Amino acid sequence: MPFKNLQPRVAAILHNEEETVDNRLTQVCEVLQTTIGYYDWVGFYFANHEARTLHLKAFAGEPTEHTVIPFGKGICGQVAESNENFVVADVKAQNNYIACSMYVKAEIVIPLFKDGKNIGQIDIDSHIADPFSKEDEKFLEWVNEKVAEIL
Ligand code: SME
Repeated sequence: MPFKNLQPRVAAILHNEEETVDNRLTQVCEVLQTTIGYYDWVGFYFANHEARTLHLKAFAGEPTEHTVIPFGKGICGQVAESNENFVVADVKAQNNYIACSMYVKAEIVIPLFKDGKNIGQIDIDSHIADPFSKEDEKFLEWVNEKVAEIL
């Protein structure tokens, strides 16, 4: 697992105040997507709590048409309401799932908290079946904590 090696790279990207926050988030998506073989799509969605929608702010991988997702819809929308990690080993087994690509077999969504409030999430799609472990969850929770520090 390259997570230990990735942490300093992610921290350096996020601390680079010469770039906008949006650019830094895109660079984090890119480094995760290119370094971890089974991370085929990586994106950050952020919540509009008044409208109860999630909005795609940064991503790496194929463009998706699902740039706005209502709370409660799909894996992402469920995490907006549950405030809990959602690890999906097999997307075909999910009823409430929004398909972004026919190649996706698994997905992990980790909520992003700022001052205790669920303000968004990191979402990762994989073309490999059941690839995510507790190590992915812990690493992505750490990424989200670091992102929260610059928001
Ligand atoms: N599959 C997600 C939608 C977002 S795409 O993966 C980029 C879901 O079910 O919420």
